[in-house]
Amino acid sequence: MKNIAIQSLGHYLPRRRLTNLELEKLVDTSDEWITTRTGIKERRIASIGEKTSDMATQAGKEALKRAKLTSDKIDLIIVATTTPDSNFPSMACLVQRALKAQHAAAFDVSAACSGFLYALTTAKQFLLSGMYKNALVIAADKFTNLLDWNDRSTCVLFGDGAGAVVLSGVRSSRGILSDYMFSKGQFADTMSVITEQREPLDQKNKMMKIPYVEMRGQELFKIAVNSMAEAVQIVAHKAKIKMSDISCVVPHQANDRIISAVARKLGVSKDKFFVNIHKYGNMSAAAIAVALYEAVEKGEIKSGDYVALVTFGAGLVAAANIVKW
Ligand code: UT7
Repeated sequence: MKNIAIQSLGHYLPRRRLTNLELEKLVDTSDEWITTRTGIKERRIASIGEKTSDMATQAGKEALKRAKLTSDKIDLIIVATTTPDSNFPSMACLVQRALKAQHAAAFDVSAACSGFLYALTTAKQFLLSGMYKNALVIAADKFTNLLDWNDRSTCVLFGDGAGAVVLSGVRSSRGILSDYMFSKGQFADTMSVITEQREPLDQKNKMMKIPYVEMRGQELFKIAVNSMAEAVQIVAHKAKIKMSDISCVVPHQANDRIISAVARKLGVSKDKFFVNIHKYGNMSAAAIAVALYEAVEKGEIKSGDYVALVTFGAGLVAAANIVKW
């Protein structure tokens, strides 16, 4: 075994679309503001009965099917999420039950929007060590559960979804060539979840104790641009490739202006960045997993390409990988 490679991908998106025009009726905002400031046109919203574990299971099922692997061959399941159905059991254990992956060890990773890459790098280490052979790595978030639907500065930004990959060893030069994870706890207050009495969107006038997200957007914006650009440079250096060798960058989808600024900072054409934020908003950990899925499906990533994956999120945490496809 030489490298650890992504063997297949899966994804799941709730059917319900929430457009900017619908949001105009909820809060003091406009399609024009949301589009020009973020690039978002619509996002998917999971229904009340549609849980994070359900979305994770669907994405995992597709990845397994595409890998032509039965679930009993999976010996590690990691789910990246910060919006679990409940504190415990872990989402990974619920996925394990739903997929009947009875031989797997299963646990969750909490790294906000960077969760997918944190989980990918974690799984890679277990496979490299020889402890496990096939890992199912899933990112799933029902972030709209955390939104205060009266707060226009956050409720227009996020959406729900899930993405998944099957990882295993290969005897070729393809695979995950380099990894980088960093955490800056000193910026923990720039984005956090507050627990208070709030009115959820679909149960107006019913006060419920639910958590909601609070964010210092402008501060995060600057840190995001610097962290993501730095992370790509570090993984490219570790993989011994030049910036010009990278065919496709799949970045976290938080704001199209952040993606443009990262492209400028790296001196890489924005055309090389895969962007789907207009359709889904920021799906937290799932954003980059779904973007990778779509980039491959659309043929923007081909065999032999060098791909950079890069994220940042609350914590603050950032991560990147170079993958030879
Ligand atoms: O996944 C990781 C976490 N999050 C992020 O990465 C977010 C990073 N930050 C951002 O993407 C941007 O900072 C935001 C999209 C959140 C905000 O964009 P901005 O250009 O930084 O706007 P701002 O916060 O400076 O607000 C500008 C104005 C303010 O009005 P005044 O004070 O200039 O009169 C806001 O009150 O826009 C107002 N505003 C809105 N107006 C219409 C804030 N939200 C809205 C809204 N609709 N939804």
